[in-house]
Amino acid sequence: MAIIGLGRMGSTIDDELPAGSPAYSVAAACAASPRLSVTAGADIDPAKRQAFATRWGVSALYDDYRAMIRQERPDLVAICTKGPLHAEMAVAVAEENVPMIFCEKAIACSMREADAVLEAVGSRRIPFNTGVLRRFNRAYHQARDLIAAGEIGEVKTAVHYAASNLLHGHIHSLDTLSFLLGDPQVESVWGELLPRDLAIENNRLDKDPNGIYQVRFANGVEATTVPGGAWEFEVLGTGGSVRICNNGGEVALRQAPAQRRGSWENVPLPPLPA
Ligand SMILES: NC(=O)c1ccc[n+]([C@@H]2O[C@H](COP(=O)([O-])OP(=O)(O)OC[C@H]3O[C@@H](n4cnc5c(N)ncnc54)[C@H](O)[C@@H]3O)[C@@H](O)[C@H]2O)c1
Repeated sequence: MAIIGLGRMGSTIDDELPAGSPAYSVAAACAASPRLSVTAGADIDPAKRQAFATRWGVSALYDDYRAMIRQERPDLVAICTKGPLHAEMAVAVAEENVPMIFCEKAIACSMREADAVLEAVGSRRIPFNTGVLRRFNRAYHQARDLIAAGEIGEVKTAVHYAASNLLHGHIHSLDTLSFLLGDPQVESVWGELLPRDLAIENNRLDKDPNGIYQVRFANGVEATTVPGGAWEFEVLGTGGSVRICNNGGEVALRQAPAQRRGSWENVPLPPLPA
Protein backbone atom coordinates (compact mmCIF):
# COMPACT_ATOMS: atom_id res chain seq x y z
CA MET A 1 0.00 0.00 0.00
CA ALA A 2 1.23 3.50 -0.81
CA ILE A 3 -0.33 6.61 0.72
CA ILE A 4 -0.65 10.02 -0.93
CA GLY A 5 -1.07 12.77 1.68
CA LEU A 6 0.62 11.99 4.99
CA GLY A 7 -1.52 14.22 7.20
CA ARG A 8 -4.31 13.31 9.61
CA MET A 9 -6.17 10.64 7.65
CA GLY A 10 -3.02 9.28 6.07
CA SER A 11 -1.06 9.08 9.30
CA THR A 12 -1.93 10.88 12.52
CA ILE A 13 -5.72 11.13 13.19
CA ASP A 14 -5.48 8.36 15.80
CA ASP A 15 -3.78 10.88 18.11
CA GLU A 16 -7.11 12.77 18.28
CA LEU A 17 -9.15 9.74 19.44
CA PRO A 18 -9.70 8.32 22.93
CA ALA A 19 -7.12 5.72 23.94
CA GLY A 20 -8.12 2.22 22.90
CA SER A 21 -10.05 3.32 19.78
CA PRO A 22 -9.74 1.04 16.76
CA ALA A 23 -7.11 2.06 14.17
CA TYR A 24 -8.45 4.98 12.13
CA SER A 25 -5.78 6.49 9.88
CA VAL A 26 -4.85 4.53 6.79
CA ALA A 27 -1.33 3.92 8.09
CA ALA A 28 -2.62 2.76 11.49
CA ALA A 29 -5.19 0.48 9.84
CA CYS A 30 -2.43 -1.08 7.73
CA ALA A 31 -0.26 -1.57 10.79
CA ALA A 32 -3.19 -3.29 12.55
CA SER A 33 -3.95 -5.60 9.63
CA PRO A 34 -1.98 -8.77 8.92
CA ARG A 35 -2.92 -8.42 5.24
CA LEU A 36 -1.63 -4.90 4.55
CA SER A 37 1.65 -3.11 4.82
CA VAL A 38 2.58 0.45 3.93
CA THR A 39 5.57 0.46 1.64
CA ALA A 40 5.67 4.10 0.47
CA GLY A 41 4.26 7.57 1.03
CA ALA A 42 4.07 10.87 -0.83
CA ASP A 43 3.55 14.39 0.50
CA ILE A 44 4.64 17.80 -0.77
CA ASP A 45 5.50 18.81 2.81
CA PRO A 46 8.97 17.58 3.88
CA ALA A 47 8.02 17.76 7.57
CA LYS A 48 5.10 15.39 6.95
CA ARG A 49 7.36 12.98 5.11
CA GLN A 50 9.88 13.03 7.95
CA ALA A 51 7.21 12.52 10.61
CA PHE A 52 5.75 9.63 8.61
CA ALA A 53 9.16 7.96 8.27
CA THR A 54 9.74 8.22 12.01
CA ARG A 55 6.29 7.04 13.00
CA TRP A 56 5.78 4.14 10.59
CA GLY A 57 9.32 3.13 9.66
CA VAL A 58 8.73 3.69 5.94
CA SER A 59 11.75 4.94 3.98
CA ALA A 60 10.34 5.12 0.42
CA LEU A 61 9.06 8.72 0.58
CA TYR A 62 8.38 11.05 -2.33
CA ASP A 63 7.24 14.59 -2.99
CA ASP A 64 5.74 13.50 -6.33
CA TYR A 65 3.08 10.81 -6.06
CA ARG A 66 3.34 9.81 -9.71
CA ALA A 67 7.07 9.15 -9.28
CA MET A 68 6.24 7.09 -6.19
CA ILE A 69 3.79 4.90 -8.10
CA ARG A 70 6.16 4.39 -11.05
CA GLN A 71 9.05 3.49 -8.77
CA GLU A 72 7.25 1.43 -6.12
CA ARG A 73 4.43 -0.20 -8.14
CA PRO A 74 2.09 -0.53 -5.10
CA ASP A 75 -0.88 -2.93 -5.18
CA LEU A 76 -3.10 -0.34 -3.57
CA VAL A 77 -2.92 3.46 -3.35
CA ALA A 78 -4.77 5.50 -0.71
CA ILE A 79 -5.44 9.13 -1.65
CA CYS A 80 -5.57 11.06 1.62
CA THR A 81 -5.16 14.65 0.46
CA LYS A 82 -7.96 17.22 0.79
CA GLY A 83 -11.11 16.96 -1.33
CA PRO A 84 -10.38 19.45 -4.15
CA LEU A 85 -7.37 17.31 -5.24
CA HIS A 86 -9.13 13.95 -5.17
CA ALA A 87 -10.60 13.71 -8.66
CA GLU A 88 -7.46 14.84 -10.43
CA MET A 89 -5.34 12.46 -8.35
CA ALA A 90 -7.75 9.52 -8.69
CA VAL A 91 -7.68 9.84 -12.49
CA ALA A 92 -3.86 10.15 -12.51
CA VAL A 93 -3.46 7.13 -10.20
CA ALA A 94 -5.83 5.08 -12.39
CA GLU A 95 -3.84 6.09 -15.47
CA GLU A 96 -0.77 4.54 -13.79
CA ASN A 97 -2.77 1.28 -13.74
CA VAL A 98 -2.61 0.87 -9.98
CA PRO A 99 -4.58 -2.35 -9.24
CA MET A 100 -6.78 -0.88 -6.43
CA ILE A 101 -7.57 2.64 -5.23
CA PHE A 102 -8.93 3.97 -1.95
CA CYS A 103 -9.80 7.67 -2.19
CA GLU A 104 -10.87 9.63 0.85
CA LYS A 105 -14.13 11.49 0.53
CA ALA A 106 -15.16 13.62 -1.22
CA ILE A 107 -14.34 11.75 -4.43
CA ALA A 108 -14.83 14.95 -6.45
CA CYS A 109 -16.03 18.54 -6.20
CA SER A 110 -18.23 18.45 -9.29
CA MET A 111 -20.36 15.91 -11.13
CA ARG A 112 -18.13 16.35 -14.19
CA GLU A 113 -15.04 15.36 -12.19
CA ALA A 114 -16.89 12.49 -10.51
CA ASP A 115 -17.76 11.17 -13.98
CA ALA A 116 -14.09 11.43 -14.99
CA VAL A 117 -13.09 9.35 -11.94
CA LEU A 118 -15.77 6.78 -12.74
CA GLU A 119 -14.60 6.54 -16.35
CA ALA A 120 -10.90 6.29 -15.39
CA VAL A 121 -11.43 3.46 -12.88
CA GLY A 122 -14.38 1.79 -14.62
CA SER A 123 -12.70 1.50 -18.02
CA ARG A 124 -9.70 -0.19 -16.37
CA ARG A 125 -11.87 -2.27 -14.02
CA ILE A 126 -9.94 -0.90 -11.02
CA PRO A 127 -11.69 -1.57 -7.68
CA PHE A 128 -12.31 1.85 -6.14
CA ASN A 129 -13.55 2.64 -2.65
CA THR A 130 -14.05 5.82 -0.71
CA GLY A 131 -14.12 6.60 3.00
CA VAL A 132 -17.72 5.61 3.80
CA LEU A 133 -16.64 3.87 6.97
CA ARG A 134 -20.02 3.30 8.61
CA ARG A 135 -20.54 0.40 6.19
CA PHE A 136 -17.77 -1.37 8.05
CA ASN A 137 -18.98 -0.51 11.57
CA ARG A 138 -20.58 -3.17 13.78
CA ALA A 139 -23.31 -0.82 15.09
CA TYR A 140 -24.66 -0.15 11.61
CA HIS A 141 -24.40 -3.84 10.73
CA GLN A 142 -26.36 -4.66 13.89
CA ALA A 143 -29.06 -2.15 12.99
CA ARG A 144 -29.27 -3.30 9.39
CA ASP A 145 -29.60 -6.94 10.50
CA LEU A 146 -32.44 -6.05 12.90
CA ILE A 147 -34.25 -4.20 10.12
CA ALA A 148 -33.69 -7.03 7.62
CA ALA A 149 -34.94 -9.56 10.21
CA GLY A 150 -38.26 -7.68 10.39
CA GLU A 151 -37.81 -6.47 14.00
CA ILE A 152 -39.40 -3.10 13.17
CA GLY A 153 -41.99 -4.45 10.75
CA GLU A 154 -42.31 -2.96 7.29
CA VAL A 155 -39.88 -0.06 6.86
CA LYS A 156 -41.62 3.23 6.18
CA THR A 157 -39.01 5.97 6.49
CA ALA A 158 -35.47 6.72 7.65
CA VAL A 159 -33.89 9.80 9.17
CA HIS A 160 -30.38 11.16 9.54
CA TYR A 161 -29.74 13.81 12.23
CA ALA A 162 -26.99 16.47 12.25
CA ALA A 163 -26.33 19.68 10.39
CA SER A 164 -23.74 18.64 7.84
CA ASN A 165 -21.87 19.72 4.76
CA LEU A 166 -22.56 18.07 1.44
CA LEU A 167 -19.29 16.63 0.15
CA HIS A 168 -17.68 15.51 3.38
CA GLY A 169 -20.65 14.86 5.67
CA HIS A 170 -23.63 13.88 3.56
CA ILE A 171 -21.57 11.38 1.58
CA HIS A 172 -21.67 9.50 4.90
CA SER A 173 -25.31 10.17 5.71
CA LEU A 174 -26.62 9.17 2.26
CA ASP A 175 -24.45 6.10 2.09
CA THR A 176 -25.43 5.00 5.60
CA LEU A 177 -29.16 5.48 4.98
CA SER A 178 -28.82 3.40 1.82
CA PHE A 179 -26.81 0.73 3.67
CA LEU A 180 -29.35 0.49 6.52
CA LEU A 181 -32.15 -0.01 4.02
CA GLY A 182 -30.31 -2.75 2.08
CA ASP A 183 -29.06 -0.47 -0.73
CA PRO A 184 -32.28 -0.11 -2.72
CA GLN A 185 -32.16 1.79 -6.01
CA VAL A 186 -32.45 5.57 -5.61
CA GLU A 187 -35.50 6.85 -7.49
CA SER A 188 -35.30 10.59 -6.89
CA VAL A 189 -33.52 13.18 -4.74
CA TRP A 190 -34.67 16.58 -3.58
CA GLY A 191 -32.12 18.81 -1.96
CA GLU A 192 -30.94 22.32 -1.21
CA LEU A 193 -27.54 23.78 -0.45
CA LEU A 194 -27.24 26.26 2.39
CA PRO A 195 -27.18 29.20 2.44
CA ARG A 196 -29.89 29.14 -0.21
CA ASP A 197 -28.34 32.04 -2.14
CA LEU A 198 -25.02 30.21 -2.50
CA ALA A 199 -23.28 31.01 -5.79
CA ILE A 200 -21.75 27.94 -7.48
CA GLU A 201 -18.94 28.85 -9.87
CA ASN A 202 -18.08 26.59 -12.82
CA ASN A 203 -20.41 23.93 -11.45
CA ARG A 204 -17.68 23.08 -8.91
CA LEU A 205 -17.83 23.21 -5.12
CA ASP A 206 -14.36 24.01 -3.83
CA LYS A 207 -15.78 24.92 -0.46
CA ASP A 208 -18.17 22.46 1.08
CA PRO A 209 -21.59 23.99 1.81
CA ASN A 210 -24.16 22.55 4.19
CA GLY A 211 -27.09 20.83 2.60
CA ILE A 212 -30.43 19.16 3.25
CA TYR A 213 -32.14 16.47 1.19
CA GLN A 214 -34.85 13.91 0.89
CA VAL A 215 -34.28 10.69 -1.04
CA ARG A 216 -36.97 8.42 -2.43
CA PHE A 217 -35.90 4.83 -2.94
CA ALA A 218 -37.43 2.51 -5.52
CA ASN A 219 -39.06 0.42 -2.75
CA GLY A 220 -41.08 3.49 -1.73
CA VAL A 221 -39.09 4.29 1.43
CA GLU A 222 -38.25 7.97 1.83
CA ALA A 223 -35.19 9.08 3.79
CA THR A 224 -34.63 12.58 5.12
CA THR A 225 -31.86 14.51 6.79
CA VAL A 226 -32.73 16.74 9.74
CA PRO A 227 -30.17 19.56 10.03
CA GLY A 228 -29.70 19.48 13.80
CA GLY A 229 -28.63 17.34 16.72
CA ALA A 230 -25.77 14.89 17.00
CA TRP A 231 -24.90 12.31 14.31
CA GLU A 232 -27.66 9.71 14.64
CA PHE A 233 -29.79 7.61 12.32
CA GLU A 234 -33.27 6.19 12.82
CA VAL A 235 -35.25 3.78 10.67
CA LEU A 236 -38.96 3.65 11.38
CA GLY A 237 -41.27 0.80 10.48
CA THR A 238 -44.81 -0.39 11.13
CA GLY A 239 -43.67 -2.32 14.22
CA GLY A 240 -41.10 -0.02 15.76
CA SER A 241 -37.86 1.85 15.19
CA VAL A 242 -34.17 1.23 15.35
CA ARG A 243 -31.83 4.06 16.22
CA ILE A 244 -28.06 4.26 15.97
CA CYS A 245 -27.01 6.72 18.67
CA ASN A 246 -23.78 8.48 19.64
CA ASN A 247 -22.31 8.35 16.15
CA GLY A 248 -22.30 4.57 16.01
CA GLY A 249 -21.66 3.99 19.71
CA GLU A 250 -25.02 2.41 20.55
CA VAL A 251 -28.00 0.76 18.89
CA ALA A 252 -31.46 1.09 20.41
CA LEU A 253 -34.58 -0.79 19.40
CA ARG A 254 -38.12 0.30 20.13
CA GLN A 255 -40.69 -2.31 19.28
CA ALA A 256 -43.96 -0.48 19.29
CA PRO A 257 -46.85 -1.88 17.34
CA ALA A 258 -49.36 0.86 16.62
CA GLN A 259 -51.73 -0.27 19.38
CA ARG A 260 -49.29 0.08 22.29
CA ARG A 261 -46.31 2.15 23.39
CA GLY A 262 -42.87 0.65 23.37
CA SER A 263 -39.76 1.85 25.11
CA TRP A 264 -36.22 2.03 23.82
CA GLU A 265 -34.02 -0.95 24.65
CA ASN A 266 -30.28 -0.94 24.05
CA VAL A 267 -29.12 -3.76 21.79
CA PRO A 268 -25.70 -5.16 22.78
CA LEU A 269 -23.09 -4.82 20.05
CA PRO A 270 -21.00 -7.80 18.99
CA PRO A 271 -17.39 -7.61 20.20
CA LEU A 272 -14.81 -6.00 17.93
CA PRO A 273 -12.85 -8.59 15.97
CA ALA A 274 -9.51 -9.35 17.61
N1 LIG B 1 -13.30 9.15 6.71
C1 LIG B 1 -13.09 9.93 7.76
O1 LIG B 1 -13.62 9.73 8.82
C2 LIG B 1 -12.15 11.12 7.63
C3 LIG B 1 -11.64 11.79 8.75
C4 LIG B 1 -10.75 12.86 8.55
C5 LIG B 1 -10.41 13.26 7.27
N2 LIG B 1 -10.96 12.58 6.20
C6 LIG B 1 -10.64 12.97 4.83
O2 LIG B 1 -9.26 12.81 4.59
C7 LIG B 1 -8.83 13.80 3.66
C8 LIG B 1 -7.59 14.48 4.22
O3 LIG B 1 -7.95 15.20 5.36
P1 LIG B 1 -6.88 15.45 6.49
O4 LIG B 1 -7.62 16.04 7.62
O5 LIG B 1 -6.09 14.21 6.70
O6 LIG B 1 -5.95 16.56 5.77
P2 LIG B 1 -4.46 16.98 6.14
O7 LIG B 1 -4.33 18.39 5.72
O8 LIG B 1 -4.12 16.61 7.55
O9 LIG B 1 -3.56 16.06 5.18
C9 LIG B 1 -3.50 16.27 3.80
C10 LIG B 1 -2.04 16.10 3.37
O10 LIG B 1 -1.98 16.15 1.94
C11 LIG B 1 -0.73 16.77 1.62
N3 LIG B 1 -0.76 17.21 0.22
C12 LIG B 1 -1.31 18.33 -0.31
N4 LIG B 1 -1.09 18.38 -1.64
C13 LIG B 1 -0.41 17.25 -1.96
C14 LIG B 1 0.12 16.73 -3.18
N5 LIG B 1 -0.03 17.36 -4.34
N6 LIG B 1 0.78 15.55 -3.14
C15 LIG B 1 0.96 14.88 -1.97
N7 LIG B 1 0.51 15.34 -0.78
C16 LIG B 1 -0.17 16.51 -0.78
C17 LIG B 1 -0.62 17.89 2.64
O11 LIG B 1 0.72 18.36 2.73
C18 LIG B 1 -1.10 17.20 3.90
O12 LIG B 1 -0.04 16.60 4.63
C19 LIG B 1 -10.00 14.77 3.45
O13 LIG B 1 -10.58 14.51 2.21
C20 LIG B 1 -10.96 14.43 4.57
O14 LIG B 1 -12.30 14.53 4.16
C21 LIG B 1 -11.78 11.52 6.37
